Amino acid sequence: MDYNAFIEQQVKELRATVGDAIAINALSGGVDSSVVTALGHRALGSQLKTVLIDNALMREGEPQWVVERFAEMGIPVELVDARSEFLGALKGLTDPEWKRQAITNTFYSKVFGRIVRESGARFLLHGTILTDIEETVAGIKRQHNILAQLGIDPQKEYGYQVVEPLKTLRKDGVRAVSRLLGLPKAIAERIPFPGPALATRIVGEVTQARLNTVRAATAIVEEELADSGAFQYLAVLLNDCATGIRDGRREYGQIIVVRCIESLDAREATVTRLDWAKLERICQRITSLPGVNRCLYDLTPKPPATVEYV
Ligand code: XMP
Repeated sequence: MDYNAFIEQQVKELRATVGDAIAINALSGGVDSSVVTALGHRALGSQLKTVLIDNALMREGEPQWVVERFAEMGIPVELVDARSEFLGALKGLTDPEWKRQAITNTFYSKVFGRIVRESGARFLLHGTILTDIEETVAGIKRQHNILAQLGIDPQKEYGYQVVEPLKTLRKDGVRAVSRLLGLPKAIAERIPFPGPALATRIVGEVTQARLNTVRAATAIVEEELADSGAFQYLAVLLNDCATGIRDGRREYGQIIVVRCIESLDAREATVTRLDWAKLERICQRITSLPGVNRCLYDLTPKPPATVEYV
């Protein structure tokens, strides 16, 4: 595929579709929404409003980091602080599906839905790729009707339209386009990170304190394994405690699991045979975090395990 021609074609189509109206999109910092943002701004300039919603669940410094990378490309991104709304919606929830549902609902029905209405936008740019559509059709993914999720009925509220400029591409195509659009490598080649973010790595209730712990452990794992070449690496906070000893005293402390996998597309995965000294170093750093006195390495391939824990 000629990706330069693809970009030219999409720019032309976006301009023709949107005309002189306002369009909006939500950027997460993942490669798909990043490419839509860069492509959309090339086509529409200031007619496209891009927001990044801080849901309290992103990695250390991530919302600001993403906004800065786009500022360097001359693309303004509005950072929306919705942390308390998400934390409020997650309060008391321990069931994995309820947690995911609370995050989805807060994002679409509350925060992004409100922003879309207030913006006066008539077009929503969305980073759906071919694989998303195939997985929805095959029943692997939940139905992906963006307008319905936003609580917008296109019949009643005439004029809203979803535009999906990447819907003919797979991940490799998206990455190729990202290079041609001049996205920095640090964004184009990021390891996969789930939409529900660190909530998929906290077993049990998501609280500010527990987020702080898993966020700090994630930063250590990502720093130590950045040059591992692995497909994905992560830290998980379990919902249990174990007895340990700190400063000569018994401590009932928290447990962090480290996971590092090899995979092509995350449908199946094997565990990376990390160097023992590297594992010991990660363990030593993670058990230096306040209240954490155990660090485990997950040896389970997918299947039977999944990549994330929630
Ligand atoms: P699982 O845990 O299902 O993960 O083996 C497979 C791949 O998908 C990512 N993942 C998600 N990505 N929204 C996303 O955008 C999600 O809800 C989600 N859940 C899992 C996961 O990080 C892995 O790469």
